[in-house]
Amino acid sequence: MTKITTLQQKLAEAKVGGGQTRIDAQHKKRKLTARERIHFLMDESSFEEIGALVAHRCTDFGMEDQKYLGDGVVTGYGTINGRLVYVFAQDFTVFGGSLSETHAEKICKIMDLAVQNGAPLIGLNDSGGARIQEGVNSLGGYADIFYRNVLASGVVPQISAIMGPCAGGAVYSPAMTDFIIMVEQSSYMFVTGPNVVKTVTNEEVSSEDLGGASAHSTKSGVTHLTATNDLDCINKVKQLLSYMPQNSTDRPAHLPYTLSDEYRYELDTMVPENALQPYNMKDVIAQITDEGSFFEIQENYAENIICGFARLAGRSIGIIANQPMSLAGVLDVNSSKKSARFVQFCDCFNIPMLVLVDVPGFLPGTDQEWNAIITNGAKLLFAFSEATVPRVTLITRKAYGGAYDVMNSKHIGADMNFAWPTAEIAVMGAKGASEIIFKKEIDGATDPAAKLLEKEREYAETFANPYRAAERGFIDEVILPNESRRKLIKAFAMLENKVVSRPKKKHSNIPL
Ligand code: HXC
Repeated sequence: MTKITTLQQKLAEAKVGGGQTRIDAQHKKRKLTARERIHFLMDESSFEEIGALVAHRCTDFGMEDQKYLGDGVVTGYGTINGRLVYVFAQDFTVFGGSLSETHAEKICKIMDLAVQNGAPLIGLNDSGGARIQEGVNSLGGYADIFYRNVLASGVVPQISAIMGPCAGGAVYSPAMTDFIIMVEQSSYMFVTGPNVVKTVTNEEVSSEDLGGASAHSTKSGVTHLTATNDLDCINKVKQLLSYMPQNSTDRPAHLPYTLSDEYRYELDTMVPENALQPYNMKDVIAQITDEGSFFEIQENYAENIICGFARLAGRSIGIIANQPMSLAGVLDVNSSKKSARFVQFCDCFNIPMLVLVDVPGFLPGTDQEWNAIITNGAKLLFAFSEATVPRVTLITRKAYGGAYDVMNSKHIGADMNFAWPTAEIAVMGAKGASEIIFKKEIDGATDPAAKLLEKEREYAETFANPYRAAERGFIDEVILPNESRRKLIKAFAMLENKVVSRPKKKHSNIPL
């Protein structure tokens, strides 16, 4: 915190960085200051501050005597791994990082520059919310930021790190950015805090339980990533950014890669013989993608679907995959919402998508129907159908019912659809189907159980394979698991210059 005294002092204090270059143990233990955060985020000496001498204009409540350099937020531009980015870091030591009219103006200025110059925007949030002394001026400042978040959406990537409090309406700026990362134990987000909750609902809850990183990464799905401390958070911001292009007209960086034979024989034994036995789709992802390149998003939320970035022969891709280890990989409300948003992000920023399918269908039940699985499932269907980036599907085992259509089927615009010989593409599983269509025959049999088994086998032979779909061209090729990586590398290379034109419209009406 720097109280303004003389011009000389102003200029000296406005220098950034404090000269730290080494990370010591203390940096991992405590909250970093706004300037330290920027220092560790940006390439060395690349940060240029904008508006270091800005001060608030408030004259109420004795505020004219309390002016601080920069007014509680450090804003500017610089590079991360050589790429231009715009950044703001709220300074909790100045009025709790609260947002005044001028604090908002500083953020808006770099948001405008980010959009005009086509570079990502990174917000390091640590704020007590609207500056109480400024009333509506501060509320207006928030709305100015919200509006710009929306204008920037789909134009440049926006990443929000939550590194302290983020409460009240302030949460809606991060919520409208592309990704949120929360620091465990030292950050929280909620619309109304524990005191209001107690007054209105009589519930007793701590800030951490109500809106900490754990709650938002497992229960609400508000945060996409969590970090153990500030440094970890900053590293995750950098890692996330590495998969993205600068803006919607740009492509993600293609890392150098020398092709070898690319067969992965471990994949041949991945799917268990028993169709009811689960396996870990993350093992499949690890074999298919470049070693160590998978970066999962919302890992602990709606675990029945896996979303994340990875590289395939150096290309950045987005992966959407059913997870048989969780709820048998079924689609439900939360997994549909989670993956639809991820699909939209990939499409906005030219990141090709790989979809790995092992899905028994949609989760049945009153809970799902009353929580609008219809509308929410439609989000994923809509997002895939709208996406024009290269889209490749690999069915490893089940692709049943409506979920077959939804999971990037050929019919909704996928470019290349592969299946392993173990794939089962059908309206439903053999048992359920046989019980319905052969009901009379089974009921009339002397041994109904044996008849059911016989009919199940008959149905499975006809439909529990990928060949009917391949015959129709809905599957382009049935491939051996061990050649999956090789085939996928070639498919994405072939699709590299894909162009799709859509009917002209103002915007679509996704079932929100
Ligand atoms: C002005 C604020 C402030 C605020 C904190 N401070 N929040 N000043 N406006 N919103 C000041 C404090 O007065 C204090 O100043 C310093 O920041 C540090 O605050 P502490 O309370 O001492 O810190 P701590 O105990 O860590 O608590 C942090 C806090 C608490 C939980 C954030 O300060 C708090 O509850 N603040 C108010 C949060 C809030 O209700 N904000 C409005 C939300 S509604 P001194 O001089 O003593 O060091 C909102 C609407 C947005 O934001 C609407 C958008 C549409």
